Amino acid sequence: MQVQVMNHPLIQHKVTLMRKKETGSKDFRQLLEEITMLMGYEITRDLPLEDVEIETPMQKMTGKQISGKKLVIVPILRAGLGMVQGMLNLIPTAKVGHIGLYRDPETKKPVEYYCKMPDIDGRDFIIVDPMLATGGSAAAAITLLKQRGIKNIKFMCLVAAPEGVQCLNREHPDVKIYTAALDDKLNENCYILPGLGDAGDRIFGTK
Ligand code: PRP
Ligand code: URA
Repeated sequence: MQVQVMNHPLIQHKVTLMRKKETGSKDFRQLLEEITMLMGYEITRDLPLEDVEIETPMQKMTGKQISGKKLVIVPILRAGLGMVQGMLNLIPTAKVGHIGLYRDPETKKPVEYYCKMPDIDGRDFIIVDPMLATGGSAAAAITLLKQRGIKNIKFMCLVAAPEGVQCLNREHPDVKIYTAALDDKLNENCYILPGLGDAGDRIFGTK
């Protein structure tokens, strides 16, 4: 299985708080944003740099700045929205695309209802969604981006099931997966165990 588990102590601590059933929406959202920032720091480690001439109050110098086109963050609606602000805190000039997918409650297969992307030319894309369960939604989102000619794609989630990782490795072996936790398995309703329940409902306070 190809997956990078980002298990920094701060991330592990915060994921445990999110898993607790008594954690309410306000804290759940806050923790998700914080973990996204901690993960985003590592995921953006390979961003290219270029020299830039600047002047400090003391003298001229050559500094470094991020080079190339701006990143695009792509949340899978709805739950992925909970990870957007954390990434924008790190990269305020990033563009944001949206993919609307929901899992059909009967078939568990993703159903597309929205897709809006910014100018894609030469940009790197990071798809965000807290949950990678069967992998159907993430695989469909990646396929949608590839159909638009997008090549450089990373997938970032909070909790992954082995089944989802295997699905993405099989269908999109070129896409690197980053997760804060790799859980045990799926239950008969394709929910992650031990997981954290329904991420979208917990973020938005729905049932
Ligand atoms: C959840 C989650 C993922 C998907 C994961 O979304 O946020 O998008 O399920 O499951 P999969 O790997 O089996 O496809 P959901 O369909 O519940 O929609 P929501 O974000 O609107 O709550
Ligand atoms: N979607 C969720 O929100 N949670 C799961 O465990 C599986 C899919």
